[in-house]
Amino acid sequence: MEVIKSIYEMQAFSRGMRSAGETTGFVPTMGYLHEGHMSLAREAKADNAKSVLSIFVNPAQFGPSEDFAAYPRDMAGDLEKCERAFVDVVFVPDAREMYPDGFSTHVDVAGVTDVMEGIRRPGHFRGVATVVLKLFNIVMPNRAYFGQKDYQQTVVIRRMARDLNLDAEVVVMPTVREPDGLAMSSRNAYLSPPERAAAPVICGALLEAKRLYDSGERDAGVLARRAREVMGKEPMVELEYAEVSDAETLAPLREVTAGAVLAVAARIGKTRLIDNILL
Ligand code: PAF
Repeated sequence: MEVIKSIYEMQAFSRGMRSAGETTGFVPTMGYLHEGHMSLAREAKADNAKSVLSIFVNPAQFGPSEDFAAYPRDMAGDLEKCERAFVDVVFVPDAREMYPDGFSTHVDVAGVTDVMEGIRRPGHFRGVATVVLKLFNIVMPNRAYFGQKDYQQTVVIRRMARDLNLDAEVVVMPTVREPDGLAMSSRNAYLSPPERAAAPVICGALLEAKRLYDSGERDAGVLARRAREVMGKEPMVELEYAEVSDAETLAPLREVTAGAVLAVAARIGKTRLIDNILL
């Protein structure tokens, strides 16, 4: 496994892969890797000649009052996990090289960022889209792998890839969950033991709404209300939203016809968690 820190070296590797006609599978991450990330890394390795995983806590996607400084980091542990998953290259760029003085170009994906996380975290998706485009230009992947847990992020990146004709297939993999259903997330590390014990109610609420959907309910309001009711029974959980949207455009739905997602965001203590389920 190679660890590359400079953009120049990473691009030299990527150019070599492209000119040799070999495919690269890419997993962009902010580190503090868990099984969700590793499932993406394994898929990238299985589908492509080489796999590249980046670790970069991207300052541009955190708001001023968000957890950039506190975001969990464990470079030694991450490199060990990558080694075990047979990742070929770990790319660890430096923030000053990624955002040099005078950096002034951003990617705004309109429409699909005007709902849910886009409203609650102004500037977040601008930061995500900008860094992902930069990483795509550096790593030049044939395929890039993202987890369904960040559903709106996958929609934003797919839309950007389509609109800007990026030469990379965006692959979305299922959310990996703890045995009690909690979606794996680096931010789960913030939860105290009682908060951690309360957190699976988020997944429970999604499953309950899905059960209602499977039994024939198609009213989006009723499905979202059911999820809210389930979460409302856990006093430690403060719900931010539970919304049923079109799976592709993220437009809010009144009735579920085809391709919908129920997405939720909730705070447990100081930790903000998101999750979703496809209907
Ligand atoms: O999902 C994440 O970890 C980040 O948003 C990403 C895609 C690595 C961009 O910084």
